[in-house]
Amino acid sequence: MTDVLQVEHLSISFGGLKALDDLSFTVGDSEIFGLIGPNGAGKTTVFNCITQFYRPDAGAVWFAPGADRLARAGHHGTDKVDLVGVPVHRVIKHGLVRTFQNVEIIPELSLIDNVLIGGHIDFKASMLAQMFRLPSSRREEAALREKARGALAFLSIDHLADEPAGGQPYGVRKRLEMARTLMAEPRLIILDEPAAGLNESETEGLAETIRRVRDEYGCSILLVEHDMGLVMNVCDRICAISFGKFLAEGTPTQIQRDPKVHEAYLGERDDV
Ligand SMILES: Nc1ncnc2c1ncn2[C@@H]1O[C@H](COP(=O)(O)OP(=O)(O)OP(=O)(O)O)[C@@H](O)[C@H]1O
Ligand SMILES: [Mg+2]
Repeated sequence: MTDVLQVEHLSISFGGLKALDDLSFTVGDSEIFGLIGPNGAGKTTVFNCITQFYRPDAGAVWFAPGADRLARAGHHGTDKVDLVGVPVHRVIKHGLVRTFQNVEIIPELSLIDNVLIGGHIDFKASMLAQMFRLPSSRREEAALREKARGALAFLSIDHLADEPAGGQPYGVRKRLEMARTLMAEPRLIILDEPAAGLNESETEGLAETIRRVRDEYGCSILLVEHDMGLVMNVCDRICAISFGKFLAEGTPTQIQRDPKVHEAYLGERDDV
């Protein structure tokens, strides 16, 4: 299996606190990979360092979206890039997208317009064409709207396409965030606690959705989640971290049996 993401020796400090300390792991092609660890272990910080919201002090984040895609982005003759130092909008262009621990949507906009925000990177029509609403621009916009509707339909919320996003129940807003990631034709989707705030049946639906996204969009998923039932059910492999350091990596069964993982969670939770 080729690796879509190789995180190598990642370190970052905030003041005196070493939030990540020489952390390495790899995510394979079409793999659903879980990152777990107690509160404050550094999981969200890992995501921020991968997507370049934070610039790590040391380490590399190799991303391999394929030679064709990289050539389109101006990187010729290679199938992977180190994302460290790459501007956030370019990271998305490479096909690496994320959802946030807290749902980030624009409440005043309709669901479909929120999804279209994720598709602006495809919007090739020139500014001039847009200003004068030339046919090429209108065609492009229509195609994007179609694609956005498809993403909403994939998550079974297309009937709400023209409703404002703000008034929707939490479960719908979470699905909306996922729909938005699909607009980028993702190679890797990073999900930060997608089950937080969902009820049991919504969480079961989410497990199904994550698998469907992987299968039908042919991408990899990197997941941070406290719901161990979901993690163990949906992940192919898991990496456990504690205090920013690597603890263990393996299949759900291997992780569940690992004494180091139990120790890290001791006193915090007992359902690992
Ligand atoms: N921007 C920042 N400035 C200062 N400290 C930070 C910053 N971001 C994270 N930290 C610290 O880094 C450590 C790791 O935080 P992080 O949010 O990555 O943990 P987490 O594993 O995602 O936790 P949770 O499960 O609660 O979401 C914590 O001690 C946190 O306080
Ligand atoms: Mg977090």
